[in-house]
Amino acid sequence: MNRAFSEYDGSEVVSSDRAHVWHHIVQHKLMQTTDPMVIVEGKGLRVKDINGKEYLDAVSGGVWTVNVGYGRASIAKAVHDQLLKMCYFSNSAGNIPGAQFAERLIDKMPGMSRVYFSNSGSEANEKGFKLVRQLAAIKNGGKKHKVIYRDRDYHGTTITALSASGQIQRKDQYGPFTPGFVEMPHCMAYRAPNGADPDYGIQAAKELERVILEQGPDTVGSVILEPITAGGGVITPPEGYFETIQEICTKYGVLIHIDEVVCGMGRTGKWFGYQHYGVKPDIVTMAKGVASGYAAISTTVTTESLFNEFLADPSEKLQYFRDISTFGGCAGGPAAALENMRIIEDENLLDNVNKMGEYLLGRLRELQDKYPVIGDVRGKGLFVGAEMVKDRKSREPVDESVTAGVVANCLQQGVMIGRTMRSFTEHNNTLCLSPALVCTKDDLDEIVTAMDNALAKVEL
Ligand SMILES: Cc1ncc(COP(=O)(O)O)c(C=O)c1O
Repeated sequence: MNRAFSEYDGSEVVSSDRAHVWHHIVQHKLMQTTDPMVIVEGKGLRVKDINGKEYLDAVSGGVWTVNVGYGRASIAKAVHDQLLKMCYFSNSAGNIPGAQFAERLIDKMPGMSRVYFSNSGSEANEKGFKLVRQLAAIKNGGKKHKVIYRDRDYHGTTITALSASGQIQRKDQYGPFTPGFVEMPHCMAYRAPNGADPDYGIQAAKELERVILEQGPDTVGSVILEPITAGGGVITPPEGYFETIQEICTKYGVLIHIDEVVCGMGRTGKWFGYQHYGVKPDIVTMAKGVASGYAAISTTVTTESLFNEFLADPSEKLQYFRDISTFGGCAGGPAAALENMRIIEDENLLDNVNKMGEYLLGRLRELQDKYPVIGDVRGKGLFVGAEMVKDRKSREPVDESVTAGVVANCLQQGVMIGRTMRSFTEHNNTLCLSPALVCTKDDLDEIVTAMDNALAKVEL
């Protein structure tokens, strides 16, 4: 019989974990000399580990996920009630929270119409790629199947999502990759030779046209873009960028797939990141913040016109979207997502994100004035990064060990901040902050004070 969690003694849990759990993106050799961290509870922005030490979590569960904060009884109740009533049925049939959430979501996304459920960001993106491939098959004689992605963007962990990702270290040793995915340059003004040009955004977007023409417009089906690149260094798009991307896609009949896995559900101060930039997507994918980690849910959202391409006479056996995701039928996911959305609305959290985001950027700029090692501060809403350099002029990045040292020092002080890691050969040099959307000025001051203390100790 299972024992209650409260009956376990901490050291027992740590030794079971150390003996049997294979942690994500961790070199386990390190755990021969240090204990794994085990998080046991959370409330608001605070979490506690198994030794009773409390931390202020400035990264929403490590990876931009727990947007409405820990310990939300109303989400737990919504999931509990739904699971008792009807936990699961394959999504070839409907369920009540799924229908309700789809309607509420589409309300926030003018121009979009259909919601496809699955359970991770990678999987949601895979659906987008499969739509493009199948559309090529049913409409374009097999042409227009290629997907263009950007250097520095990340779209997931499966082999095809990695094939569509521009992060060399994430991909290293996992090839060969899926054919038909083609890279274009990023749009990071800080690291571009022409980044200071007033029309840099337009120039960077025109790289898409160059790649489309190089590949042949009749071979390119879609381009996938993060509205603000997350793990690739918190890259906000320069002015004019998305407008030009839109023009190019319209000109060449290329679908726009926006990956909102990180930016979605309010993180940047609007419901979706793309809504800051006047772009009209054909496909939008989202995951992490959809239910703030209270349940695993992701969605692939499309326009009605894309959906209509898959309508055919039922006697045509292969002409509909023949995709299935077992756990896309878990009814607890949309139940959690509905309550998550209600909280964001009723607590006016988009407003808080905009106010607190401005405050956080301002506080980080003060640190930038104080420490030359901070070369650039970027972000939107509560999605912010500080890039560390050896030298402001040359912009030579610091070694990954330097950002790791700052993160470790903050952790010792009881504040969890993040950093870009194992994505590039050289540019894993950005500190990342993404506190829950409910954060206050006091929380942000505590985070910045810890960073200030840690930066004061940096030696290059
Ligand atoms: C922008 C982006 N897209 C997709 C993913 C993949 O999501 P998941 O880990 O849920 O598969 C991530 C994960 O960090 C991400 O940052």
